[in-house]
Amino acid sequence: NEGVLKSQISNRSFYFDEIPSTNAFILKHAEELVSGDICVAEYQSAGRGRRGRVWVSPYGCHLYFSMYWQFPQGMAQAMGLSLVVACSIVSVLQQLGIEGVGVKWPNDIYLDSRKLAGVLIEMNGQTDSECNLVIGIGLNMAMGEQHGALIDQPWSDLTGQQSVPDKTELLILLQKQLQQDLALFQQSGLKPFQQRWNKADLFQDQPVKLIMGGDEIHGIYRGVDEKGAVMLDCDSGVQSYIGGEISLRKV
Ligand code: ATP
Ligand code: BTN
Repeated sequence: NEGVLKSQISNRSFYFDEIPSTNAFILKHAEELVSGDICVAEYQSAGRGRRGRVWVSPYGCHLYFSMYWQFPQGMAQAMGLSLVVACSIVSVLQQLGIEGVGVKWPNDIYLDSRKLAGVLIEMNGQTDSECNLVIGIGLNMAMGEQHGALIDQPWSDLTGQQSVPDKTELLILLQKQLQQDLALFQQSGLKPFQQRWNKADLFQDQPVKLIMGGDEIHGIYRGVDEKGAVMLDCDSGVQSYIGGEISLRKV
């Protein structure tokens, strides 16, 4: 059975006032953890993004948390996971009546075209038969100009939105949505999320460039395929691209 039963998903959480990185905590303690365990912090002194980038993580009203998840069928079963997690975040924000939420492949959540939240997935250990991952989420609730000045791209937060719950309520909503979506993903793969992602995708049918190492490929962006790969409409037809080193930019 590839799926995970609801009764097997943990609701345990490890809470810290201050920690270097909630992802690092989960990775360090992975041996003692089970799917669904989370680590939450008020402040991260070394919050991280993809490829060694910094996630600005000041004290205040923000969410920083990581969830542990085990894929018993190995790496192939986890392909496209960052898209699933982004879909979960979008669903919760939409349930709260927040409009203007969009996603950028493979891990970013935008509000009114500025970055609101990010997802960082890291691996604890991988064997042919098992893949254990940490899913880290950072979401800005009330950033303020002083801390916002540390972020080197346009950012947004939830200030000014109606009916925003407090941090604990938002965390619980995300935790529940993630548990539900991850169980579905483990059972059925990316198919149930492909449409959800493409509907929220900010770059749909736009001219983009795909940056891969030193190379740049230009084309019209056509969303993601059933494996979570970027579909790019180029002179030679629609090609799929996937990999942790790829970045996408509007041109
Ligand atoms: P890509 O992965 O396509 O290159 P990206 O530029 O957003 O996209 P990521 O690694 O996904 O890169 O995210 C890290 C980046 O997010 C940082 O380099 C910074 O520009 C931005 N960032 C850091 N902290 C925050 C924050 N609290 N809120 C919004 N954006 C942030
Ligand atoms: C990104 O956009 O690059 C991903 C940012 C992910 C940030 C979160 S905050 C909680 C968890 N702990 C970390 O150190 N990073 C992730």
